[in-house]
Amino acid sequence: MAKITACVFTSHVPAIGAALDLGKTQEPYWQPVFKGYEYSKQWMKDNQPDVIILVFNDHATAFSLDMIPTFAIGTTDTYQPADEGWGPRPVPMVHGHPELAAHIAQSVIQQDFDLTLVNKMDVDHGLTVPLSLMFGQPQSWPCPVIPFAVNVVQYPVPSGQRCFNLGKAIRKAVDSFDQDLKVQIWGTGGMSHQLQGPRAGLINQEFDNAFLDQLIADPASAAAIPHINYVREAGSEGIELVMWLVARGAMDDVNDVNDVDGGKAPIVRHRFYHVPASNTAVGHLILENPQ
Ligand code: DHB
Ligand code: FE
Repeated sequence: MAKITACVFTSHVPAIGAALDLGKTQEPYWQPVFKGYEYSKQWMKDNQPDVIILVFNDHATAFSLDMIPTFAIGTTDTYQPADEGWGPRPVPMVHGHPELAAHIAQSVIQQDFDLTLVNKMDVDHGLTVPLSLMFGQPQSWPCPVIPFAVNVVQYPVPSGQRCFNLGKAIRKAVDSFDQDLKVQIWGTGGMSHQLQGPRAGLINQEFDNAFLDQLIADPASAAAIPHINYVREAGSEGIELVMWLVARGAMDDVNDVNDVDGGKAPIVRHRFYHVPASNTAVGHLILENPQ
């Protein structure tokens, strides 16, 4: 059977992608950011998954105000990189896993989450920057990726609690897929940042580090953080953090006994936090499910 082996959390700052693509990683501004991912790149080589479910948000690249799915799963086999700002990144095409994606859609929809099925979608920095941070600059991505998009751009956005519960549903779906696959789930975006208005540039290190602590040790209470607290404390774009709760909901300790706080807690393999990168606090965690 398929199983979720680990989750990865990381910010997706577009300027990180540009720094990589333009060969600036050793510049003094960027060097400490990329240093935080050196362990991660080695860990990825040592813990190569068969598939990644990558929870991210689209930034009006694939979707627009014409159509705003709250939760959308990519069910096709190829996804072309595209972007705002710097334009499409020179990174490999993303290959999906239509079979597992279709199974997740079937299972999760039957568990009462209404997913939008997407058979044609370009993927922006929300998805490609995390891949670059974890894999570097390969000729092709080393494994299939199922894009799982969450609307955190246009209100109303889903609550942290709903995202966390969705993660549990995804976990059940993966557990019931009849192929021996090592599956990682990644939660991306965040941490605190605000890109517009009088508070543009806001970063809240205290909130971010408390969020990391809670996400690791007490995810159920992280899931209970109301939407308004993200906006107040972590800035308007800090709401991207609800996507981390999808990934955390799919891990062991929230899925075993009674569904919450049962089982063994995941192992923290890596934790990194750096301020700033562009307008954003960069946060990064790797958690493994106990074998
Ligand atoms: C920045 C961060 C984001 O998450 C994003 O989508 C766009 C820009 C920034 O820090 O500049
Ligand atoms: Fe973003």
